[in-house]
Amino acid sequence: MSSTLLEVKGIVKRFPGVLALDGVNFDLKEGEVHTLLGENGAGKTTLMNIIFGLYKPDEGEILFRGKKVHIRSPYHALQLGIGMVQQHFTLVPSFTVAENVSLGTKDPPNKVAAEVKRISKEFGLEVDPYAKIWQLSVGEKQRVEIIKLLYAGAKVVILDEPTAVLTPQETEALFKAIRKMTAQGTGVIFISHKLNEVMEISDRVTVLRKGKVIGTLKRGEFDQNKLAQMMVGREVVMKIEREKAKPGDLVIRVDNVYAKSDKGHLALDGISFEIRAGEILGIAGVAGNGQRELAEVITGLRKVESGKIEFAGKDITNSSVMDRILAGIAYIPQDRKGVALSPNLSVAENLFLRRKERKIWFNKASIYEHARRYIEEYKIKTPSPATAVKYLSGGNMQKVVIAREFSLEPKLIIAVHPTRGLDVASMEFVYRSLIKARDEGVAVLLLAGELYEIFNLSDRVGVIYEGKIVGYTTPDPSPENVEKIGLMMAGVAV
Ligand SMILES: Nc1ncnc2c1ncn2[C@@H]1O[C@H](COP(=O)(O)OP(=O)(O)O)[C@@H](O)[C@H]1O
Ligand SMILES: [Mg+2]
Repeated sequence: MSSTLLEVKGIVKRFPGVLALDGVNFDLKEGEVHTLLGENGAGKTTLMNIIFGLYKPDEGEILFRGKKVHIRSPYHALQLGIGMVQQHFTLVPSFTVAENVSLGTKDPPNKVAAEVKRISKEFGLEVDPYAKIWQLSVGEKQRVEIIKLLYAGAKVVILDEPTAVLTPQETEALFKAIRKMTAQGTGVIFISHKLNEVMEISDRVTVLRKGKVIGTLKRGEFDQNKLAQMMVGREVVMKIEREKAKPGDLVIRVDNVYAKSDKGHLALDGISFEIRAGEILGIAGVAGNGQRELAEVITGLRKVESGKIEFAGKDITNSSVMDRILAGIAYIPQDRKGVALSPNLSVAENLFLRRKERKIWFNKASIYEHARRYIEEYKIKTPSPATAVKYLSGGNMQKVVIAREFSLEPKLIIAVHPTRGLDVASMEFVYRSLIKARDEGVAVLLLAGELYEIFNLSDRVGVIYEGKIVGYTTPDPSPENVEKIGLMMAGVAV
């Protein structure tokens, strides 16, 4: 019997207007990987922040090796042997790897560098101790965070959605490191909502939904369907049937476009591609490789440094945002609340934004009539057309965005992470809407982080890496193709 490292009982945490955790029990044994699975907003990060001393629970207790503890801070947590790699890294960019690892200790740099090398080798976490943090890729920074915890002697290692920023190959390497840790008795809390990964790495899985534990299952007791059901609370049908695409005329040509990021770095580095009417081009890539900037240069929200964008035969490189909307470019952005919707305006008003018939703006009756039609057609759950859009669930907000953008009868739809944070029913709705638009002759540019989304929707798949398309493949979910995409996502030519 391996002994229990950590146990939390009856944890309650409230934020203004939200009961984030509602009486959560959870425990971690030596040498196991205990996964915390749940949709966005389920409370996973909040629970870990409590264990790592970032938040105080409103109720409940924490036991470390059987003794009740009050964890005051992350520093205190680490002294006890509890370490966490947060979703947003906490390294000092201008310091070297070894300097970062030595922070908070009195250890001389030479000794730390040698130790970093040793840990790096032992766990297969490849990194140069003398490299500066700002020079590293996201995957490398994550390895530094883990090495830092191992150097500090953590016996409980919390990894909050570590694979969200990794290629499939980097994920495999991380899993190897996790297995080495558990072989030495370390307990790992792994957080994810990707079921295939959870199936592969977990000894136990606890499913969290809306702040409550739905259940804890041991390996052998869980399979992908069961976990999905527990996570979303109903059966999941996620294979969307669709016909083969029948591409028509050229709709958009992006030709050798360069653009800068908000920080002034080169974000698009001579990107080129074309999309025809009636086809979906899915672009896969690790976050931060120019996806956002690409969507923004096409919608007109970001300036192009050089290169050309042609839409429906016209040069729109320097056209205004409104001209592009009127020409037929629809946009389903990643950030619903910030970019796509005005949270304080009503559902009806949001459904009317971006339309050219400005005069009707002042005619409430016609705005409401317009709204009622779309609320019914898109089955938007709202108390009334007059309700402020901020009170809707994520899925219903996304329906408002889609209803509005589709009502503009676009020739091109740009969809960026269109289902992020949505429940399964809303997700299916978004998929069906995009495929329907395609079948009606719309060109679709899909920028998604999850490969299953790319495979479910795309007719062609391109891979973006450091601001360029580095290759194309088919939407075939075979292991060979996933590996090929993974290599391209990591910038390895195939
Ligand atoms: N600092 C905070 N202030 C207010 N609300 C928060 C805060 N942190 C999290 N929440 C809310 O608590 C809930 C759980 O969030 P979180 O723990 O981040 O979920 P997960 O990590 O499972 O996606 C969400 O409704 C979120 O909006
Ligand atoms: Mg989280």
